[in-house]
Amino acid sequence: MTGARNIVITGFMGTGKSTVGRLVAAELEREFVDMDSLIEARERRPISRIFTEAGEPYFRRLEADLCRELAERTGLVVATGGGALVPHSNLQVMACAGLVICLDCEPEILWRRIGHSDDRPLLAAKDATRFTRLAALLVERQPAYARIQHHIDVTHLEPEDVAARVCELASRLPLTED
Ligand code: S3P
Repeated sequence: MTGARNIVITGFMGTGKSTVGRLVAAELEREFVDMDSLIEARERRPISRIFTEAGEPYFRRLEADLCRELAERTGLVVATGGGALVPHSNLQVMACAGLVICLDCEPEILWRRIGHSDDRPLLAAKDATRFTRLAALLVERQPAYARIQHHIDVTHLEPEDVAARVCELASRLPLTED
């Protein structure tokens, strides 16, 4: 591979991956790819409908294929969906081609941000069990997120501060490969 390695931003739903990714891409004058938006555009339907009409395994296959496709490219800033790098194979593919950074956040803050969201199929019904579901999924995902080399705790940070930290991290690590 020749060129600037990708910067890949991942982490649980509501950690601000897309907002931060867009800011980082603007700052570094790179192309930004939001995996969820690209999947929705190609499928011509929102993710919630992909889940109900085609099922979660179909969505996960689209994510895995897209990880491989994006890892073939260089110079991107990528925001993944919250589950995209949970399969170790997807993380390995992305880490070979780029710097992968996981955004971490306390569940109470995530709840404030996404507790009432309508487009998070994994959180299911908006009833009293929703927070429990979020917290349980966060715990279930921990081993997968823990495999990621770089982490930023975003609990008390604004997206602009997180973006600055991503840029700082990127500037300290080799971002080109020959
Ligand atoms: C998912 C997170 C969502 C989206 C899909 C599944 C997950 O993306 O990809 O609903 O498995 O955590 P965001 O993290 O951008 O909400």
